[in-house]
Amino acid sequence: MNTGNALELRGITKMFGALAAIADVTLSVRPGERRAVLGSNGAGKTTLFNCITGDFPATSGIIRFFGEDVTAFPPYERIRRGLRRTYQISSLFAGLTVIDNVYLACRGVSRNRYSLLRPRADDALVHAAETLVEAVHLTAVRDRLVGELAYGQQRQLEIALAMSGAPRFILFDEPAAGLSPTERRDLVAILTSLPAHIGYIIIEHDMDVALRVVESVTMMHNGRIFKEGRPSEIEDDPEVQELYLGGGHG
Ligand SMILES: Nc1ncnc2c1ncn2[C@@H]1O[C@H](COP(=O)(O)OP(=O)(O)O)[C@@H](O)[C@H]1O
Ligand SMILES: [Mg+2]
Repeated sequence: MNTGNALELRGITKMFGALAAIADVTLSVRPGERRAVLGSNGAGKTTLFNCITGDFPATSGIIRFFGEDVTAFPPYERIRRGLRRTYQISSLFAGLTVIDNVYLACRGVSRNRYSLLRPRADDALVHAAETLVEAVHLTAVRDRLVGELAYGQQRQLEIALAMSGAPRFILFDEPAAGLSPTERRDLVAILTSLPAHIGYIIIEHDMDVALRVVESVTMMHNGRIFKEGRPSEIEDDPEVQELYLGGGHG
């Protein structure tokens, strides 16, 4: 069945022993749609991402990606279909330059990845890598070692890695965590200028960032969705303010 949605979750539950980290989550995201998932610590947001990517299989429920049932697929099969994610914790090659990190990511998803006859850079891939470095505002540091970058620049680089290949949908897990106000503004500019056909879900604690880069919001608490709406509706909602903005109840 092709539902026309980029992503569709039906009744997703993930148990850790007796704990339902997420419980009966049903959610649809249209192609190109940008959505925030908000909720206090332990609400189940990262677990939701792990189920979508296949890093942890869901205990029950169905996941469709562009109409295809991917529920039983391993992570790499979902990546091949254009699903990407960034992690809360960095996964970069610190000893390589910015451009080499992005080039390797582009090469990793290219058809030539096993080609021993062409060990050197091919022009199209180098160009793709340079375009991505520019899209995340890192051209000025393209030849610096990643280990020497500021923390915020490393997070920007992670976005470039998620953009390599031909992503159709990206999951961002707290991309603004640890960023300075200036870096947050940069992040907002980067996210809002991603190509329009690429949809995403962003988990973000900073409402000023989250509500400016999405058109829809899903609120989670104790593993369940308790509210969905547009950013303006969520911002003004008393229940949301009580549970989330007011510090939450974990
Ligand atoms: N690998 C795991 N093993 C056991 N429990 C886990 C694991 N990952 C997450 N949890 C639990 O699942 C719940 C949701 O966690 P998580 O998805 O990380 O929440 P959030 O990202 O919203 O802060 C928490 O109670 C957490 O302790
Ligand atoms: Mg989390």
